[in-house]
Amino acid sequence: TVLVVDFGAQYAQLIARRVRECHVYSEIVPSTMPVEEMMAKNPKAIILSGGPSSVYAEGAPPVPHGLFDTGVPTFGICYGFQAMAQALGGEVARTGVAEYGGTPLEVLDEGVIFAGLPTSQTVWMSHGDSVAAAPEGFAVTASTSETPVAAFESVERGLYGVQFHPEVLHSEHGQAVLKHFLEAAGCRPSWTMLNIVEDSIEAVRRQVGDGRAICALSGGVDSAVAAAIVQRAIGDRLTCVFVDHGLLRKGEAEQVERDFVAATGVKLRVVDAADRFLKALEGVSDPEEKRKIIGREFIRVFEDEQRAIMADGPVDFLVQGTLYPDVVESGGGTGTANIKSHHNVGGLPEDLQFTLVEPLRALFKDEVRRAGEELGLPAAMVWRQPFPGPGLAIRIVGEVTGERLDLLREADAIAREELSRAGLDRQIWQCPVVLLADVRSVGVQGDGRTYGHPVVLRPVTSEDAMTADWARVPYDVLSRISTRITNEVREVNRVVLDVTSKPPGTIEWE
Ligand code: XMP
Repeated sequence: TVLVVDFGAQYAQLIARRVRECHVYSEIVPSTMPVEEMMAKNPKAIILSGGPSSVYAEGAPPVPHGLFDTGVPTFGICYGFQAMAQALGGEVARTGVAEYGGTPLEVLDEGVIFAGLPTSQTVWMSHGDSVAAAPEGFAVTASTSETPVAAFESVERGLYGVQFHPEVLHSEHGQAVLKHFLEAAGCRPSWTMLNIVEDSIEAVRRQVGDGRAICALSGGVDSAVAAAIVQRAIGDRLTCVFVDHGLLRKGEAEQVERDFVAATGVKLRVVDAADRFLKALEGVSDPEEKRKIIGREFIRVFEDEQRAIMADGPVDFLVQGTLYPDVVESGGGTGTANIKSHHNVGGLPEDLQFTLVEPLRALFKDEVRRAGEELGLPAAMVWRQPFPGPGLAIRIVGEVTGERLDLLREADAIAREELSRAGLDRQIWQCPVVLLADVRSVGVQGDGRTYGHPVVLRPVTSEDAMTADWARVPYDVLSRISTRITNEVREVNRVVLDVTSKPPGTIEWE
């Protein structure tokens, strides 16, 4: 295990992912965790993340007491680098000089960290103050025009640090830098997808014993991979429930009912509850209200199914596709504001009296996708872009009706098809298509005046959905989407593009 000590950086998760991309398991721990507790995890190496701009900043978190006495190889990044320097008797100066963004770095001494890398390279900086003097016994290995001490190391003590952010892609050789540290720390690349899948199947087998489990499938990759793992572990003692709330996109219900079952052999109960959800949503336009209703109905339907399944014997376990970022966020206590009450279909309340089985708790999204491939799931499911639990209901601004859902489903299918055809699937994080059902605009089609609705295209790029930018989709692709939607979807006479980043705009419109 490599521990990534989180000083409150949005970069900690990224660091953990990059370490795993080197096939080494990594875990994030808060900087407030006592060193004894960290040592109990038996870490092979420790990485100190970035954090507030400077060790002088108000409330700047200290390095956990005694960390450098443990002898565990440690790598400091940005704030972690400054904190290391300060803790070991070096000097951090309030230079007032800041560096942000791509910055040329001069390697002075290859040492361990820059071994075999070009002496001039671009790195990503984001700092105010700087290390003015390295601690005694450390070699300064790189500098920039503004920062004389941009990297240092003490190979004997197994301590290394860099001022820049090797984890972001804008640092040209960042991944190599991390790899060099991990190698020097003696971490072996054993975190591979096959091992991950096999280990988690084994862990589920141990946890569930000869009990029975149920799982709600949403159509998304997380619940699908979780179910597939549990199916491998306990076979038919798992029953999956798929509540088709009628708010999915074109083809998605079939993906679950037919392709997923064919690929995994999962025992599945399908509930067609579209009418029930539509009825419950009648006359409702408020987004939060929609979310609450969908969540409530979902639980009711699921509870009915649960009772039916229990008729064949007790069920003690509930499978959930919880991912590592959710685990870190709920335990990290950094207090992120609840902007929208996210409702995950499949995200059931815990008072359901089940023990949770969460085989993806240690994984990031990209790892879940690779596990899905390893398990032979349908590609369309594995590579599905994020789709909110409340589905198309929160992409219709206004009341949700069956007819509006049909229009939006068609428009969405066209957008997805054209984006895929243009090879943009992997570049775009997701592209909500939103129907402005409460807005009408005048158009002209053929010889007649039309009075229809606009749809909005909201293609975004993102790393984790916390922040996003609008995707620069080529004009000709946008043009094809627009032409096809206005030609093929009746009632829609206008296609508009959303060019708002997040913040200030969220990804979804509701
Ligand atoms: P926002 O709109 O908050 O979305 O920028 C961030 C990500 O979360 C998805 N999203 C949801 N997912 N239930 C979900 O399971 C929800 O209620 C929900 N609302 C938004 C959204 O698609 C994006 O990926």
